[in-house]
Amino acid sequence: MVNIQSPWRNDFPALSKTMSGQPLAFLDSGASAQKPSAVIDAMDAVLRGGYSNIHRGLYEISQNLTQSFEDVRKKVAQFIGAPSDKNIVFTRNSTEGINLVAQCWGRENLSHGDEVIITEMEHHANIVPWKILEDQFGITVKVVPVTSDGILDLDAFKAMLSDKTKLIGVVEISNALGTINSITEIVQTARAYNADIKILVDGSQGVVHRRVNVVDIDADFYVFTGHKLYAPSGIGVLYGKYDLLDAMPPYQGGGDMIERVSFKSGITYREAPFKFEAGTPAIVEVIGLGAAIDYLSAIGMDKISAYETELATYAQKVLGEIDGLTLYGPKDISQKAGIFSFTMEGAHPSDIGMILDQCGVAVRCGHHCAMPLMESMGIDATARASLGMYNNQDDVDSLVHGLKKVQQLFIG
Ligand code: ALA
Repeated sequence: MVNIQSPWRNDFPALSKTMSGQPLAFLDSGASAQKPSAVIDAMDAVLRGGYSNIHRGLYEISQNLTQSFEDVRKKVAQFIGAPSDKNIVFTRNSTEGINLVAQCWGRENLSHGDEVIITEMEHHANIVPWKILEDQFGITVKVVPVTSDGILDLDAFKAMLSDKTKLIGVVEISNALGTINSITEIVQTARAYNADIKILVDGSQGVVHRRVNVVDIDADFYVFTGHKLYAPSGIGVLYGKYDLLDAMPPYQGGGDMIERVSFKSGITYREAPFKFEAGTPAIVEVIGLGAAIDYLSAIGMDKISAYETELATYAQKVLGEIDGLTLYGPKDISQKAGIFSFTMEGAHPSDIGMILDQCGVAVRCGHHCAMPLMESMGIDATARASLGMYNNQDDVDSLVHGLKKVQQLFIG
């Protein structure tokens, strides 16, 4: 049998390290991914000789860095198929992108009785901002259930649409189950019902595992975070259709987002996206995001997807062969990304995590910031192994080896 080997593994220096004295099998990319040398080097270069603030200095270093920073906005637009860099707002992460939409679009456009539809498999980041609006303005948050196969119940979704539906917030790929949602079907169904319904897609795991085109999806808003996309933490992206961004009030007030501030004549704001970016941004992190996008684009997201599918197919098979292990999420690998949530008879997920740590295997154990989903599955936690572009079959084999130890210790 072929040993599945990532051609990109050596680009990630952290993966040659050990953990608990064992070769590192890093299977927690769903939480945050390791960084390629290209990203580390690009950030290092700025910090070692090209650093200043941006959008403010007339001197050469600042002008050059401002240009590089704004070039990243263009790269992001191209990477996700956005019409223009004006559609791209830099945020701290996906969470901030969703909160920005909830606060700026939501507070302007939602009132008592209006309905926002989300799903039971959302990350807390796409639940709590809407529940806050429910408390503050009396909107109603409706929740699409997840079936026992780990997929969205689209019939229930269709039945939930009403003339009060104003926005649908849906995750592209579930961080807890790996389920790839039928975003196109959801968007088309909503648009056919009422073309004014807005759609926000949480692409935090989506953009990592496959090529995204926001125009094809026809989302009104699309958010993702850099740190899962092999870029640094502290930088995220909100894509928005320009007319919506343009009509939205600012998010936070401060420097760089204003045109003019006067105690006599009042305050005017810059146009979108700049009016949403108050204060000094995450300059070096944006440069890191640009380097990650260059790196991924040079390889091609389709190639990365195809590789990950091959490894995920293997992982699904070998995990399925472990006695006493329950895998959650779709059984059909074409409906899921390389994210494997599981429990084992007799062992709590945190026990699994500790034994795996001793075997050099990094996974996440817990509720994965998706407590309502756990509740619906009747459990409080799972262990989750999530694949990245750099994982090899050996990493999956180390996981299986570690799980067999769990079996011996807890099941006997
Ligand atoms: N949202 C991240 C995860 O799924 C942190 O682990």
